[in-house]
Amino acid sequence: MFARSSHTLLLALPLLSCVAAGSIVRVPRSPAKTNNSIVQLFEWPWDSVASECTSFLGPLGMDSLKKLYNFSSVTGDQWWTDYQPVSYILTSKRGNREQFASMVSTCSDAGVGIIVDVVLNHMTAGKGTGFAGSSYSKYNYPAVPYTASQFHYCAGAVAADISDYNNITNVRFCELDSLSDLAQGQPEVQASIAGYLKDLMSLGVTGFRVDASKHMEPEDLATIFSTVGGSPYYTQEVPRGGASTPAQYTSNGDVIEFGATAYAMNSFLGNSGATVSNMVTPDPMGPSWDLLDSNKANYIMANQDTERGTTSLNSNSPNNAYTLSAIFMLGFNYGTPTVYSGYDFTNFDIGAPQDSAGNTNKVTCFSNGFRCEHRWTAIANMNLFHNAVGTAKLTNVFVGTPQQVAFGRGSVGFLVINNDANTWSETWKTSLPAGTYCDVIHDTDSDPKTCSGTTYDVSSDGTFTASVSAYDALALYSGSSFYFLGSQRL
Ligand SMILES: *[C@@H]1O[C@H](CO)[C@@H](O)[C@H](O)[C@H]1NC(C)=O
Ligand SMILES: *[C@@H]1O[C@H](CO)[C@@H](O)[C@H](O)[C@H]1NC(C)=O
Ligand SMILES: *[C@@H]1O[C@H](CO)[C@@H](O)[C@H](O)[C@H]1NC(C)=O
Repeated sequence: MFARSSHTLLLALPLLSCVAAGSIVRVPRSPAKTNNSIVQLFEWPWDSVASECTSFLGPLGMDSLKKLYNFSSVTGDQWWTDYQPVSYILTSKRGNREQFASMVSTCSDAGVGIIVDVVLNHMTAGKGTGFAGSSYSKYNYPAVPYTASQFHYCAGAVAADISDYNNITNVRFCELDSLSDLAQGQPEVQASIAGYLKDLMSLGVTGFRVDASKHMEPEDLATIFSTVGGSPYYTQEVPRGGASTPAQYTSNGDVIEFGATAYAMNSFLGNSGATVSNMVTPDPMGPSWDLLDSNKANYIMANQDTERGTTSLNSNSPNNAYTLSAIFMLGFNYGTPTVYSGYDFTNFDIGAPQDSAGNTNKVTCFSNGFRCEHRWTAIANMNLFHNAVGTAKLTNVFVGTPQQVAFGRGSVGFLVINNDANTWSETWKTSLPAGTYCDVIHDTDSDPKTCSGTTYDVSSDGTFTASVSAYDALALYSGSSFYFLGSQRL
């Protein structure tokens, strides 16, 4: 049986697009891009996602992303088994096809779209029996079916792992961690993949996170997407580095901008002189940052790969940096943000908590390993801030120390981030209408009409005065009415 060594994976992380695992991300609720935020509910079972859509994500205005397969090429409790399909049948550790369909429809009724994390680049390695019973061996997947002539083998040379990221043929036609590499240029392969995506859309799915896009030809993806038709949201996984680059994929849809994630990490940790204020001024994540244009970028705070590596902040980062960076992501006007919602793990490989039959346990936020970042007060309420400010321009930028920055979003919202060891006391000028505002970062009240955070009075000249503690934040927006059902993690 094939087993991925965590050592290999760790080394591979900076360059490989890697195994993404059974995830849920929240997606724009209509097929067209809405600019709403997304939440990735990593490894959540489908019934739990459905409940979360009704009880929390819908009321909060978030969309969700989920993954499916009948693979578990490797049966086991490792999270990365999710990224090794052996068929396109919708049965997995997270539930069966009926549960999947029910999740999509329940979420849709709650106003939440489902974006599926799909693995189109490769199948698995090794041989065995998939989670739901289909047999397979490397280069042979009868349940699709795929046979030996439908793989790349390093462009017809000899099958081998990717060895040269500066050789675009090597990156796209050789194997990612020995996983058999599908030949997406072949019409029959295109038809199988398009059939899979169309099947998902027939169940009401509104978008796709395309795993390991970096390792496929963008033109082949374009052909497949065009066969699929409709207007699903596409976000493609293309880590930076080497000859296969994010810009080559933007004509197909959004691209996950790992550069923004890394800049946020370096800025919040103060690595090599990077600072949070520099993300906002003088060039607010503009041309000098060498990032994708905002309207093509999917800005993630972290994901299942980066939280296990060194390319993003994670829940163990010091000084609230993980939460503060999520607040920044949701408050700033760059890209389509994705909130990551994971589970606690004690070693690299371990998957979400599961029963003896290998089915992922029902999620109970904050009590059985699931962290539920999307329910943390500051993150949940900043999602509402994000949707309220929409595309309003950046205004009233104010810098304290290099790690203290405040800015407005048009006349709708104002955010203060104090990523510094000292309290920041200031009178800020905003473009908000005069009135009394709730600091939503600390509003833990579940009643939308009341504020358990501090309230601030913005005067007729747009100013207000506050003291923001070390490594804390403050956010005001007009029309705020939210509630919160989770735990305080800042
Ligand atoms: C999303 O934001 C872009 C600007 O980045 C804007 O042009 C577009 O109209 C917005 N879409 C919606 C549905 O609001
Ligand atoms: C899983 O795949 C196998 C082989 O294609 C199929 O026979 C089986 O019915 C599937 N299981 C479920 C529960 O869908
Ligand atoms: C690029 O990679 C392919 C596949 O491994 C190989 O056949 C080819 O020789 C490489 N080209 C160069 C210039 O190294």
